[in-house]
Amino acid sequence: MRTIVHLSDLHFGRVDHAVLGPLRAKVHGLAPHLVVVSGDLTQRARPHEFRAARSFLDALPQPRLVVPGNHDVPLYNVFQRFFQPLAKYRRFIAAELEPWYVDEAMAVVGVNTARSNVFKGGRINEAQIERVRGLICDLPGHVTKIVVTHHPFDLPPGHAPRQLVGRARKAMQMFARCGADILLAGHLHESHASDTRLRYKIDGFAALVVQAGTATSTRGRGEANSFNVLRIAHPQVRIERYTWNGGGFEPNEAVAYRHDANGWTRS
Ligand SMILES: [Fe+2]
Ligand SMILES: [Fe+2]
Repeated sequence: MRTIVHLSDLHFGRVDHAVLGPLRAKVHGLAPHLVVVSGDLTQRARPHEFRAARSFLDALPQPRLVVPGNHDVPLYNVFQRFFQPLAKYRRFIAAELEPWYVDEAMAVVGVNTARSNVFKGGRINEAQIERVRGLICDLPGHVTKIVVTHHPFDLPPGHAPRQLVGRARKAMQMFARCGADILLAGHLHESHASDTRLRYKIDGFAALVVQAGTATSTRGRGEANSFNVLRIAHPQVRIERYTWNGGGFEPNEAVAYRHDANGWTRS
């Protein structure tokens, strides 16, 4: 079995400081095989925000796989936005914008979907689709294949399709051919688990889409701070949501999925 802690949308610069210590303690207590952070580490991509995010990450267990989000690209400094969009992210968080992790049970590929030319949206391009294909397509079927982006491949009810990562359909065709299992994302500040069957309608394929809420930001959009824990034991996955209750993070919802010839289905 593998345990992944999935955090997202930390937004240093707008964090609730009361949650930081309990969050660190809880993540350590879960003893994950991998900690994933799916972007928006800062609120406005300022150096002091990146520094605070860096020291928070340093206090989490390793290994860690982190990708940038749209808030990690400077918004108002036009020169930086277009010519050095993720320079500070690279300096403070990670030189590698698209990290990747593999062991004998799971492969996890990070994809940078943050772009300078849109304020909030994001996109996956042809080269990125090709890179993911090269990394996951030849892995054996028992290895759970996971793709991490900031912008999501599916949406909870009530969100407009423009919130989806750009070129999602093209990427999904490759995911189907290569048997991608789980797509992790954030961005909406809303926890959600679904499968791709309804939106993408690809015969014999359904990936599991898991979105984490914001772990530490004060901009929860009506939801308490939360994060997800994935327990992976092929062909089953259990997703637990841990929610802030004012004193600590406790599990308050869990869903289980099973993989069969038609992809992932809730069990
Ligand atoms: Fe965010
Ligand atoms: Fe975002």
